[in-house]
Amino acid sequence: MSHTEPSLPPLPALGEIPERMLAAVIRRERYGPPIEAFRLESVATPRPGPGQVLVAIVAAGINFNGVWASLGNPVDTIALHRQRGEELDYHIAGSDGSGVVWAVGDGVRHVSPGDEVILSGAQWDESAEDIRLGIDPLASRSHRVWGYERNHGSFAQFSVVDEYQCHPKPPSLGWEEAGCFLVTAATAYRQLCGWSPHTVRPGDPVLVWGGAGGLGSMAIQVVARRGGEPVVVVSGADRADHCRRLGAVGVIDRREFHHWGRVPPEQDGAAYAAWRDGVRAFNHAIWDVLGRRVNPSLVLEHPGRDTLPTSLYVCDNGGMVVTCGATTGYDADIDLRYLWMRQKRLQGSHFASTQECRAVIRMVSTGAMTPCLSRTVDFRQIGEAHQLMHDNRHPPGQMAVRINPPPVGGRTRGSGGRA
Ligand SMILES: NC(=O)c1ccc[n+]([C@@H]2O[C@H](COP(=O)([O-])OP(=O)(O)OC[C@H]3O[C@@H](n4cnc5c(N)ncnc54)[C@H](OP(=O)(O)O)[C@@H]3O)[C@@H](O)[C@H]2O)c1
Repeated sequence: MSHTEPSLPPLPALGEIPERMLAAVIRRERYGPPIEAFRLESVATPRPGPGQVLVAIVAAGINFNGVWASLGNPVDTIALHRQRGEELDYHIAGSDGSGVVWAVGDGVRHVSPGDEVILSGAQWDESAEDIRLGIDPLASRSHRVWGYERNHGSFAQFSVVDEYQCHPKPPSLGWEEAGCFLVTAATAYRQLCGWSPHTVRPGDPVLVWGGAGGLGSMAIQVVARRGGEPVVVVSGADRADHCRRLGAVGVIDRREFHHWGRVPPEQDGAAYAAWRDGVRAFNHAIWDVLGRRVNPSLVLEHPGRDTLPTSLYVCDNGGMVVTCGATTGYDADIDLRYLWMRQKRLQGSHFASTQECRAVIRMVSTGAMTPCLSRTVDFRQIGEAHQLMHDNRHPPGQMAVRINPPPVGGRTRGSGGRA
């Protein structure tokens, strides 16, 4: 980051909205590696509209939405905002955060200035017709990811959110812990517990890709707390140790296998045979970990192209592969024979409901789960932290960025009840 960046202005009095604020800004001309894309700039402070809340962000979580936003791919977020009538020519990313409610718009009833909150990363239109007809808001046509498909995410001194995105910050959590885990924990929780009847039950083996990553670290713990057996995949010994500490029954190092990516056509005999041998060897590695010849009833997917064919192959008959991402590519192969002949389910899953967010906040606040905060960086290092994630060189767990100093005199309202 350059030395000419503006410095962090002090927060005004509670309830006052300053004209300008410091934000980590992405512009179209900088789309590319995160280290280049993020710059600290002084920009206009957003104002809360009806039903909205202005939050002074104390800490924000680093997750993949910031990487995708930096790259401008697969979504050109700034073009998207402009198509929707927004005039700003920049994007403020950040889909995880903790902070203090600073001001509220008309009609806000459940939070007030001074409340300490954790923010969840999904927005929808509560008056949308499909929601009024009873659809899960996450499946609503109006659903958008805050800090990605919607502007004014958490990488700024102030952010505007909808009221329902505010969850009471448990007093037991520090600001960085509170701000770093909700995107991954709630997403993993929904993947593992939200798609009945394919939910984790005691004794269920569950395959977790990227066990030392954000999703993986949370998923291992959810599986273990529900009595399942997390079989985890990583690259590297330090990552394997991290997963064992969280409750993995065994860890497989994916660097010992070479069949990843698109599946060669069967007509290409030698290449297909090599793929089949690779996936069978990987399946054996799962049996070795479990100490019995049984396949995972659930597979927590997110790498995409590199792993989806393997996920579908090793998933048990009648089991489910549940995916929320495609870090290595969207064009993944599906051999439909394995899907229908063995009656498997391939399920898409996207973030989490308010109720699921509350469930994981409660698990973290009571110590049933750790947020796995690995590192807190200064606001000026936000590009570097995202670059580590982009390059898969980030430490096991989740990183946070510190933004405003914690205001004194904030109010915590307990850990919140069930949603
Ligand atoms: N839809 C949603 O609501 C939602 C929510 C959260 C995340 N996501 C998506 O899920 C993905 C992962 O997010 P995250 O926060 O867990 O990221 P992360 O912290 O970077 O963890 C991802 C893990 O994937 C593993 N990985 C990397 N390349 C791989 C490959 N070629 N094959 C197998 N594993 C590989 C890495 O572990 P090893 O190198 O140790 O194997 C890494 O630790 C991202 O694409 C993100 O956008 C979606």
